[in-house]
Amino acid sequence: MAPRETLFRLICCTVYIVSSASVNSNIGVNWGSQASNPLNPDIVLRMLKDNGISKLKLFDADQWTLDTFSATGIEIMVGIPNDQLSSISKNYGHAKDWVKENVTKYAREGGIKMK
Ligand SMILES: *[C@@H]1O[C@H](CO)[C@@H](O)[C@H](O)[C@H]1NC(C)=O
Repeated sequence: MAPRETLFRLICCTVYIVSSASVNSNIGVNWGSQASNPLNPDIVLRMLKDNGISKLKLFDADQWTLDTFSATGIEIMVGIPNDQLSSISKNYGHAKDWVKENVTKYAREGGIKMK
């Protein structure tokens, strides 16, 4: 390999490492829990930490998952499951209860960083 090509590859590699290190904190993961073999939240938490990922988007508000991610510093965005959207959109009381149980309960000191 020509020295010039080697230098070019080294520079490219360095730029990639520097750029991936600086954007790592902005990488997030979407995690849907509807699967034939659901993942244990403890395993997902470890995978995120091992890979420096600090943001997670959930498509529901499973209590086991939210409890696992309490006080971890990982920023969480919860979603309302599709099968509940209609009833929540038509019933303000139900919407308030959903937010109270699935968001407000965790938005405390030592809780979850909710988005
Ligand atoms: C909280 O969220 C879960 C999952 O979306 C849902 O099953 C539960 O009914 C919600 N709680 C309330 C009070 O709506």
